[in-house]
Amino acid sequence: MTTVWIVGAGAVGLGLGSFLLQSGTRVVFVGRERTCGLLSSDGLVRTGIFGRFAAPSDQFDVQTSLDLRETQLPNLLLICIKSYDSQTLARQLLETDWVRESGCPLVLCQNGWGNAEIFAKQFPRQRVFSARVITGFQRLAPNHVNVTVHAAPIRMGSLFGADASVLQPLCDRLAAGGIAAETTPTVVRDLWSKMLYNCCLNPLGAILAVPYGQLGEHESTRGIMDRIAAEVFQVMHSNGHSTHWDDVAGFLDAFYHQMLPPTRKHESSMLQDLRAGRRTEIDALCGEIVRLAESSRIETPTNRMLYDLIRFRTTGRC
Ligand SMILES: NC(=O)c1ccc[n+]([C@@H]2O[C@H](COP(=O)([O-])OP(=O)(O)OC[C@H]3O[C@@H](n4cnc5c(N)ncnc54)[C@H](OP(=O)(O)O)[C@@H]3O)[C@@H](O)[C@H]2O)c1
Repeated sequence: MTTVWIVGAGAVGLGLGSFLLQSGTRVVFVGRERTCGLLSSDGLVRTGIFGRFAAPSDQFDVQTSLDLRETQLPNLLLICIKSYDSQTLARQLLETDWVRESGCPLVLCQNGWGNAEIFAKQFPRQRVFSARVITGFQRLAPNHVNVTVHAAPIRMGSLFGADASVLQPLCDRLAAGGIAAETTPTVVRDLWSKMLYNCCLNPLGAILAVPYGQLGEHESTRGIMDRIAAEVFQVMHSNGHSTHWDDVAGFLDAFYHQMLPPTRKHESSMLQDLRAGRRTEIDALCGEIVRLAESSRIETPTNRMLYDLIRFRTTGRC
């Protein structure tokens, strides 16, 4: 039987876990104390566009540490934490004997760019895989996840040329649980496509406190997003990567006509983070574009400005 460890029992972790549980996969959640307490007492609940699903607590394991019990040896680990926690978790995993020695794949279900490099500094590159998730998961309670939107199948693969077929059983289990997932040899293209979407919409939607649709309706915000996308494209190409469109004009056409309309009512997760006084993932989005641009001697003034504005909002300093 496939056993999957999910590290980070937040919105994505609980969401993906719910589909795996629905397929009869054995799941071990590693989460924070409050989450683990509620999962252990009340089980896991999923609501939303994929229908209601409830798993009583005796159908999965839940724990606050990476300690391994004999029956739990995993086939793989799904990493479902925010990008700013990647360094800490990568170190924790490396210090955990069985994770270091087992050789099981690590599948990063995270937004932003740079997460795979962080894990690949601690583990052999062949063990590190990335997944592009464009399903919206919202945590309504520590043990309750709501699925709000689903744009495309989950795609997963390696940024380091490793054979992604080792992830086929995971894709099969997710699909059996009700959410489509597939392996791909070109996950890099999917991750850059998501980077483009997130860099255009997340920080601007957070700063202006409006849903995505309004950003696409006004000439001034379209101008800003056009410039963000052009800068991301330049940085992506200068780092030897590509995405599904050859040039920024192709992306912007798809962005305004296909990608934005179905999510026009959506509020940026970064806006929710600002409202709640939480840390944001700006470092792995515009921040990463600025860092990559500096090392390639490219100017990215629009990404830089959004990066600085979000940093101002999160530090509260003038
Ligand atoms: N939500 C979505 O719809 C969605 C969709 C696609 C992609 N993503 C991406 O997926 C990633 C996860 O997002 P999310 O929305 O699931 O975040 P989230 O709800 O904040 O969940 C992450 C959880 O991981 C916990 N955590 C962090 N480090 C941990 C550790 N070392 N051990 C155990 N638990 C740990 C966090 O606890 P604390 O908060 O207490 O630190 C939090 O409960 C992000 O990169 C996000 O951008 C999200």
